[in-house]
Amino acid sequence: MPVINRIAEFHDEITEWRRDIHAHPELQFDVHRTATLVADKLKEFGVDEIATGIGRTGVVGVIKGRQTGSGKVIGLRADMDALPIHELTDRSYKSKTDGVMHACGHDGHTAMLLGAAKYLTETRNFDGTAVVIFQPAEEGGGGGREMVNDGMMDRFDIQEVYGMHNWPGSPVGQFAIRPGPLMAAADLFTIDITGIGGHAAKPHLSNDPIIAATHIVQSFQTVVSRNADPLHSAVISVCQFQAGDTFNVIPQNAHLCGTVRTLTKEMRDLVEGRMTEIVKHTAAAFGLEANIDYQRNYPVTVNHEAQTEVAASVAGQIVGEDKVDTNVLPVMGGEDFSFMLNARPGAFIFLGQGDTANVHHPMYDFNDEIIPVGCSYWVRLVETAMPAQ
Ligand code: NI
Repeated sequence: MPVINRIAEFHDEITEWRRDIHAHPELQFDVHRTATLVADKLKEFGVDEIATGIGRTGVVGVIKGRQTGSGKVIGLRADMDALPIHELTDRSYKSKTDGVMHACGHDGHTAMLLGAAKYLTETRNFDGTAVVIFQPAEEGGGGGREMVNDGMMDRFDIQEVYGMHNWPGSPVGQFAIRPGPLMAAADLFTIDITGIGGHAAKPHLSNDPIIAATHIVQSFQTVVSRNADPLHSAVISVCQFQAGDTFNVIPQNAHLCGTVRTLTKEMRDLVEGRMTEIVKHTAAAFGLEANIDYQRNYPVTVNHEAQTEVAASVAGQIVGEDKVDTNVLPVMGGEDFSFMLNARPGAFIFLGQGDTANVHHPMYDFNDEIIPVGCSYWVRLVETAMPAQ
């Protein structure tokens, strides 16, 4: 069963919404225009209940099926926020806000879920309740965490949750998923090293924090190569190294920061523990002080077995089973949907968007061709998981 005809009829309309959102990108929790647009559309479609301001600026819409006797309630989630990147495309609908753009396709995610909401409200061909979730601040701000902490799951009796992300480099009409860890925990660390500054020509009267910092950066490489089981993944990337202001002064301080990605709790504990030891003992070896602030941000995105099976089979209904990779390798990117999956069973799926610029690139643009595929997936998921009697 391919794309749903009625949804194909909405394609142009959904594309217009998508491009309108694209032209007006908003960051983190400040998605006021987008959230208003979403709430207005849901109202226009006639969904049964709309709640705004969930998790600060999230929007939730409740759509009851023609029957609700099954008592089932399924949540479908899209993200609404953009990125602090200056768009370099020459699209007619390119970002109207300098330095902000939809470079991760959340404009497309929001538009596709709106399209599904429109169809589901019109047809209501299911036995249960579909809850459409539009979250702010996926890009590092933890909007998903905020919505969960705001009591969304209990308030709307959500029993299962599903998410979707477009995937550049994978062909249009191809899905990818796997049970278990799909995306990494994304943590951040900052390290401050305090030395003794002085004249560059008299190093013996100083204690150079740059030397200690370089040793710390080097030693971090051994956590992945020597401490981690080679069959389990971890990434430590030091992405900022700041020290000194000029060529003839040994600075007083050095500052490092970066990110850690892991796919299991054990690996996360191991990496945090080793990094903390390395910082403390390396600094001590050089006779100076260092402090590491390690922050656990997004947890691992773990797909639940039963819901992954449902998601994969629904994807297969839309594009054909041979176009669904059910054992894709996990990726080390993080995803805030992980908080929802920690709260309720569910599954996150990747939808190929063809050979486009990658996400978070200034030339990226969501591929409108995939709209009917993504929308049909949402709709069939609801109709399959909560079949009308
Ligand atoms: Ni994204």
